[in-house]
Amino acid sequence: GRVLSLLSLILACIVSNSHEETIRRNQFPVEFLFGTSTSAYQTEGAILEGGRGLSNWDVFSHVPGKIETGENADTADDHYHLYLQDIDLMHSLGINAYRFSISWARILPRGRFGDVNPTGIAFYNSIIDNLLRRGIEPFVTLYHHDLPQELEDRYGGWLSPLIQEDFGYFAEICFRRFGDRVKYWSSLNEPNLYAHFAYLRGMYPPGRRSEMEPFTVLHNMLLSHARAAYLYRSRYQQKQGGSIGIVVNTAMYEPLRDEAVDREAVSRALAFYVSGVLDPLIHGDYPPEMRHHLGARLPKFSVEESKALNGSIDFIGINHYSSLYAKDCINSPCPTGESHAFLGFVYTTGFRDGVAIGEPTPMPRFFIVPDGLEKMVEYIKTRYNNKPTFVTENGIAQLDQPGQREVLLHDNKRVEFLKGYLASLARAIRNGADVRGYFVWSLMDNFEWTNGFRMRFGLYYVDYQTLERTPKLSAKWYRDFLTPNATDE
Ligand code: NOJ
Repeated sequence: GRVLSLLSLILACIVSNSHEETIRRNQFPVEFLFGTSTSAYQTEGAILEGGRGLSNWDVFSHVPGKIETGENADTADDHYHLYLQDIDLMHSLGINAYRFSISWARILPRGRFGDVNPTGIAFYNSIIDNLLRRGIEPFVTLYHHDLPQELEDRYGGWLSPLIQEDFGYFAEICFRRFGDRVKYWSSLNEPNLYAHFAYLRGMYPPGRRSEMEPFTVLHNMLLSHARAAYLYRSRYQQKQGGSIGIVVNTAMYEPLRDEAVDREAVSRALAFYVSGVLDPLIHGDYPPEMRHHLGARLPKFSVEESKALNGSIDFIGINHYSSLYAKDCINSPCPTGESHAFLGFVYTTGFRDGVAIGEPTPMPRFFIVPDGLEKMVEYIKTRYNNKPTFVTENGIAQLDQPGQREVLLHDNKRVEFLKGYLASLARAIRNGADVRGYFVWSLMDNFEWTNGFRMRFGLYYVDYQTLERTPKLSAKWYRDFLTPNATDE
């Protein structure tokens, strides 16, 4: 009897453990990159220091009504002054990679129309050197939504093909000055979201609302990537031995109704939104679905442009936060008021008959659906012949509650979120996906664009009065996950 009950106890333990899906570091390859992500405008502050020029976001965030909370990132996390301390935080987490972006206006305050700013170069040199000193791989984004304002004023920024030359100029300076130490370059962060938010929904600078412009902007962004990739590959890559990729905003979609039209809507949404960026860079042209549905609205690549685009990324970066329902808007009516062309004539929502697709989070269109990451990775693996992929962002926001610091520090929900998404990613990798890294958005709370500071994504809590950083429970969890001590093994 005793032996039997002991046996059943052991069995119960095994069963409950496998149900819990305990996620462990050793389920990922040894050389896998585990990091955290940030961007320049969202964290640096010091917008008028060190010879930096004004960016589109400096101007935009100061226009009343643009940022929900009336805030701006003039100071933000003051990472510009506190970066050494922040690198210590990274070190204490045990991460082996850090994704951050370079402020274009710090390197070239006036774009191509002025000089290189030596103080800006020195700042990023110091970040890179200090990361490497602690065994942390710099994973660098060149453009994370922040443009020197002068380029906007002179010729309309991303709306003009002139931007290609400017971006190439900026990129080359970065390759030349930092590429001896930086081995991972992403040209652009989320060009798909940027084109959509800045030129269709008017939410990001320059705050335009147009049906056509998002496609023009996406086109110029893709060609700007191609220009940078060409410069990197022809002049630096061989000598420096790094790689260049791009980062796409992704959501996974599920059909709203169990009907063929909505299943097709799912494929269209993925084709337009995700493959609208990746197909050109891997196959040299927009997805056939886009051509078919958009006709003359979709800009064309010349033969030379298509050649330059074709195969111009070494890796794919995906930012993934949520899944949404997709509903067809070609054969069936959709809510009016906003063009769905950018998503492939698809309406997306988080709700079906009032029931959410996953647990809601404070960000309106961010729902917790861990399986969505596995499905997205599977989509990329299948469509792009298992190209090396990095999850360049994944995370969850907490809504700021004044006086509730203790509650925010105890972020059990974030820990559960990370466990669930990492388990989902581990499944994708077990099924053969060539995923090589994962970055939590974000290292610390920061300026969440139009939402201001009240959406807190950090593993570290930031007190915006004192600028003090405090580890949340999730920071401790990530540290334990990355460096498990012998007793948990
Ligand atoms: C994507 C963006 O790259 C980043 O800037 C933003 O803060 C996070 N998602 C969260 O919305």
